[in-house]
Amino acid sequence: MVDFTVRRVVESDRDDVLEIARRTWGGHDYMPSQLDEWLKSPSCRLVGLEVAGRIIGLANLHMIDSGRTGWMEGLRVHPRYRRKGLAKVLTDELVKEGRNAGVERLRYTTDSTNSASISLAKSIGMSVRAEMGVFWKGGLKRVKKGGVKESPQYAERDAAERILKGAAHLFSDGVIIHDWKAYDFCSEGISQVLQSARAYILTDNERIGSVTFGSVRTEGQDSGWSTAIYAETPSDFTRALYSQVFLARAEGRPFLMGIYPLRFRHILLAERWVPKWVERFSILLFEKRLG
Ligand SMILES: CC(C)(COP(=O)(O)OP(=O)(O)OC[C@H]1O[C@@H](n2cnc3c(N)ncnc32)[C@H](O)[C@@H]1OP(=O)(O)O)[C@@H](O)C(=O)NCCC(=O)NCCS
Repeated sequence: MVDFTVRRVVESDRDDVLEIARRTWGGHDYMPSQLDEWLKSPSCRLVGLEVAGRIIGLANLHMIDSGRTGWMEGLRVHPRYRRKGLAKVLTDELVKEGRNAGVERLRYTTDSTNSASISLAKSIGMSVRAEMGVFWKGGLKRVKKGGVKESPQYAERDAAERILKGAAHLFSDGVIIHDWKAYDFCSEGISQVLQSARAYILTDNERIGSVTFGSVRTEGQDSGWSTAIYAETPSDFTRALYSQVFLARAEGRPFLMGIYPLRFRHILLAERWVPKWVERFSILLFEKRLG
């Protein structure tokens, strides 16, 4: 076992942390864009593992939902130190932090192909609370319009809050997942998601056909467009999907990352520009209730 110390990550560890991010997911890690908040916010507990004076692993616990939820994120171990049980140490530390802070539950999202992450979730007794599809798409200029003519309306914040409250039918799991974060479908959760994302609403007479969230997502050097589409019917889904593709394209975004209900996966895969690996890839929201 490696000789390590567990301690809080501080500003002077920034270079070590950024080095880990550079070596994660081919340099497309979103973590650097969050690091300032994780280091400074009083609602974050950024835990690190120090070996020979350097931070070689980290994980953040973010207290959200007025302190009820401990949101686990940013679990990273430097490639040189992987497969030695260190992510397990960090995960157990976040559970301790959550208990000490008195949160009611721990939550986190990971992708369905991340076996290490799934093993770790199970090792602390988490279970899957919700699952959504996810895709990335670059080269948006080459996407053809697919016969979709109109765009959903961008709703100002107050209107979006009001409309969303009447759209529970689109959120059957009782959670909103956007940009890999989860919000309960309640007034507080709606208000939180709208602090970081815009809402685009598609209506058909009085019927709310879709609610789509959109925000900028920075991965490595690229600022792409992150969207989450909640739609009632396949045609509502397709309209919302294309509106986001063309919005991202109009803004010159290098990629679109989209989250969508799994029941629309076959609709998405029928689009020629959608990569086939989308079939194997989803977001799992894990949850553990603390006694
Ligand atoms: C995921 C990550 C944190 C694991 O770190 P680690 O220190 O190597 O993990 P550990 O040695 O503590 O292993 C934890 C569990 O994951 C399993 N595991 C670790 N790496 C694995 C891999 N590449 N493939 C399959 N399983 C793996 C281990 O076998 C262990 O499971 P077990 O207890 O059931 O045997 C590390 O690979 C990493 O930083 N990856 C990039 C970022 C990432 O994916 N973060 C998590 C999602 S946000």
